[in-house]
Parts: sequence; structure tokens; C-alpha cells
Amino acid sequence: MNKRENLLKLRDQAQLGGGIERIASQHKKGKLTARERIHFLMDEGSFEEIGAFVQHRSSDFGMENQKFLGDGVVTGYGTINGRLTYVFSQDFTIFGGSLSETHAEKICKLMDLAMKNGAPIIGLNDSGGARIQEGVVSLGGYADIFYRNTLASGVIPQLSAIMGPCAGGAVYSPAITDYIFMVENSSYMFVTGPNVVKTVTHEEVSSEDLGGASVHSTKSGVAHFTGANEIETIQQLKKILSYVPQNCEEKVPMIPFEIGDEMRPKLIDIIPESANQPYDIREVIDEVADENTFFEVHKNYAENIVVGFARLAGKSIGIVANQPAFLAGVLDIHSSQKAARFVRFCDCFNIPLLVFEDVPGFLPGTDQEWNAIITNGAKLLYAFCEATVPRITVITRKAYGGAYDVMNSKHIGADMNFAWPTAEIAVMGAKGAAEIIFKRQIDASENKEIVLKAKEQEYADLFANPYRAAERGFIDEVILPEETRKKLIKAFAMLENKVAVLPKKKHGNIPL
Ligand code: HXC
Repeated sequence: MNKRENLLKLRDQAQLGGGIERIASQHKKGKLTARERIHFLMDEGSFEEIGAFVQHRSSDFGMENQKFLGDGVVTGYGTINGRLTYVFSQDFTIFGGSLSETHAEKICKLMDLAMKNGAPIIGLNDSGGARIQEGVVSLGGYADIFYRNTLASGVIPQLSAIMGPCAGGAVYSPAITDYIFMVENSSYMFVTGPNVVKTVTHEEVSSEDLGGASVHSTKSGVAHFTGANEIETIQQLKKILSYVPQNCEEKVPMIPFEIGDEMRPKLIDIIPESANQPYDIREVIDEVADENTFFEVHKNYAENIVVGFARLAGKSIGIVANQPAFLAGVLDIHSSQKAARFVRFCDCFNIPLLVFEDVPGFLPGTDQEWNAIITNGAKLLYAFCEATVPRITVITRKAYGGAYDVMNSKHIGADMNFAWPTAEIAVMGAKGAAEIIFKRQIDASENKEIVLKAKEQEYADLFANPYRAAERGFIDEVILPEETRKKLIKAFAMLENKVAVLPKKKHGNIPL
């Protein structure tokens, strides 16, 4: 065999990973191989592999006789919708995609390239965790990755798709990245698996119930997106990248858009007659954003707040919206955490923020207090205060109490605040307020109900409207619902070149 033929043979060998049988076994589980996943992710023919011939250096347990080209991870770069992207894809057919010293080195090399060249990195995770035969060397490899994940945070977008097992400390690399995507019924993440759980806590639980896509997208909030299968999950990875810039120095992607009339009469009747009746804030979002562009993050987690990306006149924005259709849109621990993380992501990557506000306040109760709603609510407050991207709020209905301040009020740095005529901006709802401030008069009266009703009305007349706030300039303009989209397009264009600089510091100390 001449040298040329030898190279071609090695290339073919590398393509086969752990061999035909293991590839068949992967397919039998309904899973794609590492290379097939890359094929579906990257633009046709754009992928260039790096390190296809890397092999492990281990010699314990007879490992010197078990070597596979690539060592369990395919790494390289290519384009997604024409934009440079780095990807590593763990190959379960080689030692179960487990992470060896050299496997880690390949990932680190890629991360370093992504950082130097300012482009997103995607990890397709499918791994049995640390390469057991290598011991601490493998643990060190993980830590090298965690360290780079952290340094890259806020510099380049980092996405993690979980396409199979992801257990032990291995979960912490995805956890540090910006978004986690999971495949339903074929992926799981946990720090300790069902066997350890059984030994320590005597709980019997399946992998799926402990750390499957459903659990992490609804209960824990660890996963931001789930796909019904691998292809759907890969489509989501591509989609999110279309909304974000390549790195923190770039402006958001923009697709050409011709501005027309932009009035949205459907919004006129969206707020129900009674202030206690719910409506779906997604209907407002869909009307205001460019058609079919809203891409929701954390859709099934903490549903009392809705967050996601959209386009407004072709330009990416991030939307945070109280959801009156779920728990009346109240702010609680999970919704505060969810929104805070999203606000910080948008701010890292220059994505302007649009807030829709209809919030009755923070959720009362021992559960919330004992689990630190104070610290967790402060996360959202801090995240908004710190954000320097263009920020606009539209108050559609309730803006009560501390939640008024927290939800991107002017006082904490929002640039433009609009309110609909239906807005109610006060310390609390009229009934609660009347009960407190007129307690004596009510108690002393013969007909308590009538006095309470009258006092409630008095309070509502004074505060259940946007005009007291507008008098002060806390609201820049009271607008008709149908004008919202038009006003927002103009206001965001006006804020296009906003510059806001935070005081010099090493970094802030967000309440964690
Ligand atoms: C080396 C491994 C491996 C590992 C799997 N393999 N995990 N080799 N190190 N961690 C190998 C198997 O020996 C097998 O090799 C092949 O991969 C496929 O594994 P199977 O068990 O046949 O596959 P499956 O039945 O699908 O089960 C997958 C699995 C199971 C659930 C992931 O393999 C498993 O439980 N692995 C061990 C998980 C684990 O405890 N890892 C360490 C976690 S601690 P052959 O040659 O037969 O094909 C950790 C710490 C990280 O990761 C800390 C970071 C700070």
C-alpha cells in the first residue's frame, strides 16, 4: 500500500468509529451516530474535521490493544445557515463516548479555536462519562472543559444537546453553557444515577423519571428545549443560532424587512373585561412580533413567565412576559430564575429586550419564603438593573408592588416604558389596599361591605390606571394596544446605537 492509499484507508477507518457492529447497535436504539448528527446539523459539505486520527494514551487494563481513531469524539467546524460554527459530537460507538484525556484535549482545542475566532460552539453529548480505565486523568479532562466553558461564557454562544446519557460531573459542562437541548425518551442527565439513588435514599426511580427530557424541561428547568427526536432537536439548535450574534462584539442578526402600516387591531379586545380574567400573553407576543418568529425558551417550565426570541422588523429581540393565563402571571422563585437567566443571555449578546408586564406581584407563602424568594426574586431585579441593551416595557394590565419595579421599570434602567389604557400601576390591588388603609373606618362602620366597596372604588379610581405613573414620567407614553407594534419598531430603531456603561468593577455579585 502506498502512502496515499494508506491515508485514504485511515480516513475510511476513522469514519467507522467503533466499528460496524457498534454503529448497528446505536441505530437499533433509534439513535444516530456522531457523524450522522453532524451531517444533519451543518450546511451540506461544510464540515471540516479536526483530529480524526487522535488516539488515547492509556495502557492500563489492556487499553494499549484497544484503540480507535478519533477516541470517541468527532470535532471540527463548518457553517450553519452560512455562519461559522464549531461542533464536537461524542461517538458512543467508541468506549461509550466516554471522556479520556485525549478526548478532552480535542474538545479543548476546539473551544480555544472558537474563542479565538469568535464563533458559537455546539456540543452533541452522548457519553458514559469519565473513561473509567483512565481514572483521574479523565477527571482532569472534564475540569479543563468546565474551565473553558466558564471563560467562554458571555463571549461566544455555547449550546449543549444531550443525545444519550450524560451523568456524573459530566453534566456540569452543559450546565455552564447557555442552552441545553434534550431528546425525548433517549437522553438523560443526572449527577448520580438510579443505582446510587437507591443505595443512598432508598428511592426506586428509572433513568427517565430521574433525569429524562420531560423531568428537566418541566420540573428542574435544567433543559431549555426538548425535541421529539434527534432531528427535531438538531433543527432547534439551528434555529436558536439564527437569533444570536456570533460573539459578544457583534450586533444581532437582521433580515431585510420593509416597514408598512404595522397596526394590529386584533390587540384592541385582548384584555378581558374583568381584571381577574386571564388571557394568553402569547397572543399579544404573536401579534406584536414579526409573523411566526417567536421561538419560546423553557416553554414548559415556570409557565407564569414566558421568555423567548423573536424578530421585530427583521431584527432579533428577546421577550420577557408575565403570563396571566398561568397562576395569574405571579412572580415566584422559578419564574424569577428563568427570566433572570434569559435577560442575562440577551444582555451578553447585545439582544434588545422587550417586556410585557401584567403581574399581580410576588407569590406569598411559606414555601416561597423558606426557599428564598427574596434571593431568587433579586436575581431578576439584578439582571434587569445590569442589562445595558436597549430595553422597552409595555404594561398591558397589572403592575403591582415590587414586581412593578422588577419588571424592567424606568427606575432600573429601562429606556422606554409604554402602558396600555388598561394598565393598573399601584402598590397593590384596590381591594387589598382598601382593606389595609381604611381598616378602622371599615371596622367602625355598620355595613362593612358597602364601605369596603366604596373605598376599593376610591383606590381603583386613583391608581387602577396608567396616568399617575405617566404624570411622573415613569411611563413615557400611554398607547393604544393596536399601536404597540408600530411604536416598538420606532422606539427600538431610536435606541439602535444606545451606549450604556456600567461602573468599573471586576464583576458584580449577583445574588445566587
Ligand atoms: C469506559 C465505557 C464507559 C466509561 C460505557 N463504556 N461507559 N467505557 N468508560 N465510562 C463502554 C462499555 O464498556 C461498552 O463497551 C460501551 O461503552 C457501551 O456501553 P454499554 O454499557 O454496552 O451501553 P448501554 O447499555 O447503552 O449503557 C450505557 C451506560 C453504561 C448507561 C452509559 O455504559 C454505563 O452505566 N456506563 C458507566 C457510566 C459511569 O458510571 N460513568 C462514570 C460516571 S462518573 P463495549 O466494548 O462493550 O462496546 C463521571 C465523573 C465525571 O463521569 C466527573 C467529571 C467531574
